[in-house]
Amino acid sequence: MSEDKKQEIVVLVGATGLVGTAIVRTLERFPLPVNNFIPLASLRSKGKNIQFRGKNYTVREFDPKYFKDARWVFFSGKDGLSEEFCPVAASEGAWVIDNSASFRMNPDCPLVVPEINLDSVGSDPRIIANPNCSSIQLAVILAKIRDNYGLERVIVSTYQSASGAGGDYLEKLINDSYTVLDGGGNLVPGTSLAFNCIPAVGTISENYRFSEETKLENEVRKILELDELKISATAVRVPTLVGHGESVVVETSKPVDPDDVRKLLAESDGVKVLDDIENRIFPTPRQAENTDPVWVGRIRKAGVFENDLAFWVVADNLLKGAALNAVQIAVAINKRDGN
Ligand SMILES: NC(=O)c1ccc[n+]([C@@H]2O[C@H](COP(=O)([O-])OP(=O)(O)OC[C@H]3O[C@@H](n4cnc5c(N)ncnc54)[C@H](OP(=O)(O)O)[C@@H]3O)[C@@H](O)[C@H]2O)c1
Repeated sequence: MSEDKKQEIVVLVGATGLVGTAIVRTLERFPLPVNNFIPLASLRSKGKNIQFRGKNYTVREFDPKYFKDARWVFFSGKDGLSEEFCPVAASEGAWVIDNSASFRMNPDCPLVVPEINLDSVGSDPRIIANPNCSSIQLAVILAKIRDNYGLERVIVSTYQSASGAGGDYLEKLINDSYTVLDGGGNLVPGTSLAFNCIPAVGTISENYRFSEETKLENEVRKILELDELKISATAVRVPTLVGHGESVVVETSKPVDPDDVRKLLAESDGVKVLDDIENRIFPTPRQAENTDPVWVGRIRKAGVFENDLAFWVVADNLLKGAALNAVQIAVAINKRDGN
C-alpha cells in the first residue's frame, strides 16, 4: 500500500470512551485528511453508530486486522490493549498516538506536547506517547518558565476531575451524588468521590506515593528534558466533572517578576491568562471545559524561595489533556511530512 493510500485511513481504538469521543469531535475541527474512519471498541459497543464529518460509522469490535493500511491509529482504550497492540499497529507502518501510560517513559518513544518538543519526533519509532492530562497542562506553563527564568524546583498539587478516570468513574460520581442528595446509601467515605476529595489517584507507587504522582513527576522531567528537576506532586481527585486544576509553586534560577510572567504567558500559543484578583477573575474547571487553551491565573510571588512564583493552571483534561494534544501531534507530523 502506498503512503498516499495510507494517509486516508484513521483507526480509533476506544472510540466510545470519553477520550475517544473527544478525539472524534477534535478531528472534525482539524485539517487531517481522513477518507476512511474505523472506530473500534469492546464487544459491548459493537454495532453502535458514530457520526464523523457528516457520515455514519459503525463501531466494530477491536481486532488488529483493522490496522492494515491505516496511516493513523489513535489508542484511547485500556492500558493493556495499548501495550500489546501499539507495536502491532506501528509494525504495519501506521503512526500510532497512544493515550495510555504504556510507552510514556519508554526511552525510545517520544512523549510529546507539540508546542514544546515536536522535534523529538523522528520518522521511527512510530509510537508516540501522549502525556498524562495533568502533565500536559503543567508542562505547557513550565516550559515557558524554564526558557525564560530557569527551573530549579516544582511543587504541585492537582485537583483532578472525575472524567480523568474514565466514563464509568464519571457516571459513578453522578450516581453517588444523587444517592447522597437523596439522603442515603452506604457510600464509603474513603472511596466515593461524591461531595468528597480523594488524595489517592492511581495505584500505590514507591515511597508512599500514588502512580499519578510518579507519572506527573517523571513525565514533566522527560517532556522538559530536565532529568534532574526537583519536582514533587500530590494528586487529588475532586468532584468536578471535567477540567483539572493545579496549584503550583516553582523555584526559578533567575529573579522572576509576576507581571512579566503574565505578559510572557499572554503572548504564548495555546495559553490564556485570566488573572484579575481585584475583580475575582481567575480560571476554573467549569470555564475550561470544552475549550482548547491551558488557562492560568493567580500568578504571584510564593514567598518561600528567593526566586519563586506561585500560580494556578486549568485545562480540559479530555481536550488539551488528551484528544486535542493527540490530534495536534498528528496534524503537526502530517504538515512536517509535507501532506
Ligand atoms: N480521561 C482522561 O482525562 C484521560 C486523559 C489522558 C489520557 N487518558 C487515557 O486514555 C485512555 C482512555 O481513557 P477514557 O477516559 O476515554 O476511558 P473510558 O471512558 O473508560 O473509555 C475506554 C474505551 O476503551 C474501550 N475498551 C475497553 N476495553 C476494551 C477492549 N478490551 N477492547 C477494545 N476497546 C476497549 C471502551 O470500549 P467500550 O465502551 O466498548 O467498553 C471505551 O471505548 C486511557 O488509557 C486513559 O488512561 C484519559
